[in-house]
Amino acid sequence: MKSKRVILITGGAGFIGSHVVRTIVSNYPDYRIVNADKLTYAGNLENLKDIENKENYVFEKTDIVDKKAVVDLFDKYLFDGIIHLAAESHVDRSITGPDEFVLTNIVGTVNLLNAALARWKGSFDGKLFYHISTDEVYGSLGREGMFTEETAYDPKSPYSASKASSDHMVRAYNHTFGIPVVISNCSNNYGPNQFPEKLIPLAINNIKNNKPVPVYGKGENIRDWLYVEDHASAIDLIFHNGKIGETYNIGGNNEWKNIDLISLLCRIMDKKLNRPAGTSEKLITFVKDRPGHDLRYAIDSSKLQKELGWSPIPSFQTGLEKTVAWYLSNSKWLENIISGDYSKYYDSMYSGR
Ligand code: NAD
Ligand code: DAU
Repeated sequence: MKSKRVILITGGAGFIGSHVVRTIVSNYPDYRIVNADKLTYAGNLENLKDIENKENYVFEKTDIVDKKAVVDLFDKYLFDGIIHLAAESHVDRSITGPDEFVLTNIVGTVNLLNAALARWKGSFDGKLFYHISTDEVYGSLGREGMFTEETAYDPKSPYSASKASSDHMVRAYNHTFGIPVVISNCSNNYGPNQFPEKLIPLAINNIKNNKPVPVYGKGENIRDWLYVEDHASAIDLIFHNGKIGETYNIGGNNEWKNIDLISLLCRIMDKKLNRPAGTSEKLITFVKDRPGHDLRYAIDSSKLQKELGWSPIPSFQTGLEKTVAWYLSNSKWLENIISGDYSKYYDSMYSGR
């Protein structure tokens, strides 16, 4: 849409956010893209080194929980569009410390909605507040069925409850005040730049270092995996062509039991590291389950595919191979992370499990 010229992307230094920033900065040289990020443990400007000097890009260190900082940012840039990704995103951390999730995911989202409303009141023409959410708001599936856009919300963890609350606030601001919004709910992402607290990069890092690979419970839980660049392309499409007030589910149609996924990853790692077949699988260690662990997520993304013509690109094997290759050739990126507070986090999360 022509009028969406000044775009705020929140959480652009994180895993998915950095891919979204790169996609929008590269595809729309005429836009001005402002990446606002607090740079928590999960935010890393190294993720954006290749585009940081582009003329259409600027970074603003901003905490979305700070109401004044958010208002000042809106006054400074007069945004037409917002792609809101900033969040506390790790389920395990939401179990040990839910407060931060309430603040960033709920209060932070409301601060952005209020600032957009105050700025845009009078004319919503050409404006859009695009909220990025998760399939976890729908709760947990049994062995059958898939989440559609009509599935009732039933969040089970403090993380998913905070994301569900923020989705409700976004819809309420649309219904009550008329602010133009769109929401997408995506399944598990994987790919370059993901913080190694999440299953796939954590396993890659541990296998590389010959450390045990912790699998929760019996490894029976199922997730639907999507390559992160496919999520970024869906976000680009929905931001420009999505219908105001609509929700779009995004998923890979790619369900894997955790144990099968880790076994595949072990086989790929053995090949890449020139280790005898079977070496990495010996590192698999079953540990105490995550409390309230959702059994299965599966996304029906047919609405997005039919209405906007989106489809995911690489096969899972190809995507995983690309991901492993990225982590192995970016060992400096990984070292920088695991040499910081990461080892404290890792010990508190996994020792005695
Ligand atoms: P991430 O944890 O890698 O990155 C989050 C980013 O938000 C970081 O850069 C962090 O610094 C920033 N941030 C956190 N608190 C902030 C605050 N108060 N103010 C400003 N910035 C703040 O997360 P991710 O995995 O890239 O997820 C991004 C979004 O996508 C989240 O909204 C998440 O709920 C959603 N999502 C993630 C997945 C997934 O598989 N990772 C799937 C579906 C949806
Ligand atoms: O479904 C979308 C969600 O996917 C996003 O909204 C979240 O931000 C994102 O973190 C992710 O949540 P999960 O809890 O599914 O991702 P995680 O990588 O933490 O775990 C994936 C599965 O692997 C899950 O069943 C738990 C299990 N697991 C995880 C870790 C970190 C293990 O077995 N061992 C581990 O060490």
